[in-house]
Amino acid sequence: MAIALSRYLQPEPAERISIPDAELDLTDQAITFDRRQEIGIGITFPIAEDGILLGRGYYQLTQMEKNPTPFFHIPVLVDAVLSYLLVNPDGTYVDCTVGGGSHSRAILQRLSDRGRLIALDVDEEALEVAEKNLAPWRERVRFVKGNFSALAEHLDGLGVDYVDGILMDLGVSSHQIDADYRGFSFQRPGPLDMRMDRRQKTGAYHVVNTYPEAELRRIFREYGEERHASRIARKIVEARKEREIDSTEALAQIVRSAVPGEYQVKSLARVFQAIRIEVNRELVHLRLGLEAAADRLKSGGRLVVISYHSLEDRIVKNFIREKEGRCICPPEFPQCVCNRIGILRNLTRKPIVPDEQEIRNNPRSRSAKLRAAERV
Ligand SMILES: C[S@@+](CC[C@H](N)C(=O)[O-])C[C@H]1O[C@@H](n2cnc3c(N)ncnc32)[C@H](O)[C@@H]1O
Repeated sequence: MAIALSRYLQPEPAERISIPDAELDLTDQAITFDRRQEIGIGITFPIAEDGILLGRGYYQLTQMEKNPTPFFHIPVLVDAVLSYLLVNPDGTYVDCTVGGGSHSRAILQRLSDRGRLIALDVDEEALEVAEKNLAPWRERVRFVKGNFSALAEHLDGLGVDYVDGILMDLGVSSHQIDADYRGFSFQRPGPLDMRMDRRQKTGAYHVVNTYPEAELRRIFREYGEERHASRIARKIVEARKEREIDSTEALAQIVRSAVPGEYQVKSLARVFQAIRIEVNRELVHLRLGLEAAADRLKSGGRLVVISYHSLEDRIVKNFIREKEGRCICPPEFPQCVCNRIGILRNLTRKPIVPDEQEIRNNPRSRSAKLRAAERV
């Protein structure tokens, strides 16, 4: 009997596998990932012959095997992503936010040799890492640096009309947050930057040092849902009259001075989030990206979006509703005049969220919400 075990889990460790009465073929592809369970730092998997379960194998993973991109990003809601996204193992998929490539890797492991992936990210640094991590599938992946709001142009450039599935895992990667020099984190010293696309001319420094007070207030309210928006905006404008605000620490200090102690950490998180959204025009790109994605899905193709704050989630939810084409005529109208035609079918009436164990293993997943829709 031969057990198939994924190549990526398989350097030379036959002796670390204990399976009574079973012979292993470690050169073959693809363990049955949907039935695998992670136990400690190993995996168990069923051993079956002619459909009869003979036992379970145990394979101890090294830290590198368990998480080959440990310092980049731990992927969120992987099982849900795979089950909603993958309708056809021979299909073509787009990962609009490839980051370090962890979701992409899981997708590629499930696709057949004919399956293709287009891996897109606006951040060059992310693409460099993704290219390394997805090297085993190099032949089947096309890497594109660009914004997903221009998805149509990117697909045209590759000569691809319609695709089977599109994934958007929004926001920033752990790498972006943890890299001091990118200036995304209020907990790390760094320049006021926050650009995902580093070819973009202006970043957080420009927002903080040049935006009028009213504009700063609006951003903090709208994108940060920050209660102390007025006080923080005023303090920033006062402080920058003295000297330019040129670091994450300087900005964090001003926010702290504007907000009572117990609210400081939440306010810091909201203000930094708001500036990041403004710098990268995240909500504008999201709306455009969703439109482009719905346009380029084959009939039966899937759109899967993971968002991390309520503004994003609201946009995704409303977009799917709108594209479902439900009549929006007032109930007193005798007949429909809006004539909306549905192009999407909502697959998640309620968003999918991580369970407790995932949140324990990866606290950054705690705010994740996944929504999925199918092109009709
Ligand atoms: C949460 S991370 C994705 C992590 C990835 N799923 C993984 O498994 O490693 C979000 C990524 O999306 C990228 N991104 C955010 N907005 C984008 C946009 N509008 N177009 C393209 N990439 C974007 C960011 O640069 C970042 O690398």
